[in-house]
Amino acid sequence: MAGKSLSKLDAPKNITNNEKTLSQNDFIVSKTDAKGKIIYCNEMFTKMAGYPASSIIGANHNLIRHPDMPKIAFKTVWDKIQSKKEFFGFVKNLCADGGYYWVFAYITPDLDANGNIISYTSVRRKATQSAIDIITPIYRQLLDAERSGGMQASQQILNNLLKKHNLEYDEFVINLQKGAKI
Ligand SMILES: Cc1cc2nc3c(=O)[nH]c(=O)nc-3n(C[C@H](O)[C@H](O)[C@H](O)COP(=O)(O)O)c2cc1C
Repeated sequence: MAGKSLSKLDAPKNITNNEKTLSQNDFIVSKTDAKGKIIYCNEMFTKMAGYPASSIIGANHNLIRHPDMPKIAFKTVWDKIQSKKEFFGFVKNLCADGGYYWVFAYITPDLDANGNIISYTSVRRKATQSAIDIITPIYRQLLDAERSGGMQASQQILNNLLKKHNLEYDEFVINLQKGAKI
């Protein structure tokens, strides 16, 4: 029998510092419908998130949203993929037991023959430690800015950061994943 899919209300309230790590050759894959509801996930997804597939299918992806993630990160995701571009970026995800795992995510819209978006696919791999060390304080700064000045404030900080390094968002994160320092 199909299980009931979960919602954000079912996510753990006790956040812990237990980190789960992916191995070098692991990939976490999921697919959503055009609204962001999960329609497919692979076994590695269920293993890392800690929910059975029967509870994940039909759920919104924000089930695994970690409170350390700034809103601007997801605004960037949706701005890109809804305009039919691909997204690369670092995401800290929440496990069912309150722990977390970092990924380097690639999200892309799936288009039909007429160019309409029919679904989205995300493939994630292990984020490099050097990238996690750099992105963690940046996300903290963006989150703090959002608490006092909303997403306008975090967008400004992000724009300034990219301008300072003379890089597009994609280049910036791909360089970090490859070990670049800032
Ligand atoms: C294909 C796809 C994969 C996604 N993967 C994640 C993910 O792994 N973790 C996450 O927090 N949000 C992910 N999102 C973004 C969520 O849809 C959502 O925007 C985010 O969790 C913030 O939700 P909230 O605004 O309700 O807090 C993904 C979206 C899509 C389309």
